Amino acid sequence: MKFKNKTRIIKFNQLGDERGHLVVVEGNKDIPFEIERVFYIYGSDNDVIRGQHANRKSEFVLINVSGKSKVKVDYGNYTEIIELSEPHMGVYIPKMVWKDMYDFTKDSVLLVLSNQKYDSEEYVRDYDEFLSLVNQNTGGIANED
Ligand code: TYD
Repeated sequence: MKFKNKTRIIKFNQLGDERGHLVVVEGNKDIPFEIERVFYIYGSDNDVIRGQHANRKSEFVLINVSGKSKVKVDYGNYTEIIELSEPHMGVYIPKMVWKDMYDFTKDSVLLVLSNQKYDSEEYVRDYDEFLSLVNQNTGGIANED
């Protein structure tokens, strides 16, 4: 898939009829990786900031299947804010991107798909370490092709 190393919005097909909507997410088809892990975040208060880490290996697709939230992605040299506001919309986030998830509505259920099983060792939870890893790997230009 093109732009594999860049954050991007994915609009999924809505297979709707009079019974309601259905969205299908298949690995390596609708998203740019095979799915190894699924988790979801709900019940976070509006003033909570989650995430606050980067991942050496994990790539993610975030989908607010209910409600809304925002995700701020930080490449070390620039940041971008994406509002997740529709159940048929996802955001693909490559590895080595610092992520903050926040502004959760009461009904927010944030579904997260990943290409990796959980391994706490591949999480970078120190922001200065993240910056030095990004600079070391890219000379300061994170995730450029
Ligand atoms: P944490 O990484 O703090 O969640 P967030 O996505 O908000 O940054 O994870 C919270 C707890 O859940 C922490 O103890 C680690 C555990 N956890 C797993 O065991 N497996 C997982 O896949 C994830 C995402 C978290």
